[in-house]
Amino acid sequence: MASSCRLAGLVVLVAALASTLPVASRAQLEVGFYDAICPDAEDLVRQAVTTAVANNSGLAAGLVRLHFHDCFVRGCDASVLLTSTDGSAERDAAPNFPSLRGFEVIDAAKAAIEQSCPQTVSCADILAFAARDSVDLTGNIFYEVPAGRRDGNISIGKDTFTNLPSPNSTAAELIGKFTLKNLNAEEMVILSGAHTIGRSNCTSFFQRNRDRLASGTISPAYQALLEVLCSPPVATTDIDVSTPTVLDNNYYKLLPLKLGLFFSDDQLIRDDKLVPLVNAFAANETLWKERFAAAMIKMGNIEVLTENAGDIRLNCNFVNTRSSSSAGMIEKLFPDAGVEVAAT
Ligand code: HEM
Ligand SMILES: *[C@@H]1O[C@H](CO)[C@@H](O)[C@H](O)[C@H]1NC(C)=O
Ligand SMILES: *[C@@H]1O[C@H](CO)[C@@H](O)[C@H](O)[C@H]1NC(C)=O
Ligand SMILES: *[C@@H]1O[C@H](CO)[C@@H](O)[C@H](O)[C@H]1NC(C)=O
Ligand SMILES: *[C@@H]1O[C@H](CO)[C@@H](O)[C@H](O)[C@H]1NC(C)=O
Ligand SMILES: *[C@@H]1O[C@H](CO)[C@@H](O)[C@H](O)[C@H]1NC(C)=O
Repeated sequence: MASSCRLAGLVVLVAALASTLPVASRAQLEVGFYDAICPDAEDLVRQAVTTAVANNSGLAAGLVRLHFHDCFVRGCDASVLLTSTDGSAERDAAPNFPSLRGFEVIDAAKAAIEQSCPQTVSCADILAFAARDSVDLTGNIFYEVPAGRRDGNISIGKDTFTNLPSPNSTAAELIGKFTLKNLNAEEMVILSGAHTIGRSNCTSFFQRNRDRLASGTISPAYQALLEVLCSPPVATTDIDVSTPTVLDNNYYKLLPLKLGLFFSDDQLIRDDKLVPLVNAFAANETLWKERFAAAMIKMGNIEVLTENAGDIRLNCNFVNTRSSSSAGMIEKLFPDAGVEVAAT
């Protein structure tokens, strides 16, 4: 009797452990992660972003893209911020250089945060907060950012080509790249709406759009305008011709008019599964904004490092040294020493 009671108790205990263990080891990100350990963290990021965007509104677009390019390559681990001495890091590779911008905003936020709570807030979380603040400033879309990401130590330029979609990607390729990151076709369409803000180097679309003109998938008047806008020495142009600094649903209204800038943008109306989504977001901005916020949160969850995995970098541009935090300080004080030098 007593022993069968103990046995039953044991079974219950094992069942309880079995049901709690996988949850505990999954280590979810949490809204308010820094509330107790660095209560000003999100405010300090917001201040850095607001200051920078007031000076240069284009940085909001830059910061949204920075978070996307971080998350798609090795997960949201701030690998995109690491520098190399030999041009081999993610940020040096063609999909990122020279177009990716906003690095100095992250550095400013990190410097302010290190002053109030040293070695507590990851660069990956700062990037996620900065992207959210940029979305809020340009689109009046606020969402809470689950946090607790930790920073990675590895950044390999070649990874950008395999993981990031190209402006020449077909609908099937776009869906494939997003599916690999646990984002479905609808979320791909929703997140592409970020192209309602920001600029593009003409080299990213110019040749391809001449082909599109021949195949009738770009408005001839738009192509003529782009030929003018891209005439040397001008090298970049707005992605959304209608409202380039406002995060709105105009992106989806432009696509059926053959006013999508990239071949990849235009692909969203060349696939029968995707067209109804484009039409729905063009018709209902509230719907798109709600789904955009949710998709940004989901993108921010890609392959995150949490708890004991990864690190809290002292300087977002460099990995910490292996030994103590005082060795890390050397790198912080003399960032020019570089990864290799400081690590030996
Ligand atoms: C769907 C596949 C995507 C492709 C093929 C793509 C491609 C591109 C390209 C080629 C540029 C211009 C870069 C240059 O100057 O050469 C660009 C800019 C931009 N992209 Fe995307 N992108 C995609 C998805 C996204 C997503 C998911 C986001 C964010 C959620 C995003 C946000 C942006 C922003 C904000 C800019 C403007 C950046 C600035 O002004 O600094 N893109 N994208
Ligand atoms: C404002 O922008 C200019 C050039 O775009 C830059 O040189 C300057 O450092 C910026 N100032 C601040 C406070 O960010
Ligand atoms: C545009 O891209 C080309 C080729 O990658 C590069 O040489 C040029 O510096 C870029 N221009 C700007 C303004 O980023
Ligand atoms: C896209 O295709 C065009 C040819 O249509 C090519 O010139 C360009 O380099 C390609 N761009 C990228 C980023 O692959
Ligand atoms: C637009 O989407 C919102 C959010 O999903 C929804 O509440 C609203 O009813 C939609 N409006 C129309 C006109 O369908
Ligand atoms: C990065 O290096 C630090 C220090 O050696 C280590 O604690 C951390 O776990 C490493 N992170 C990753 C993602 O390997």
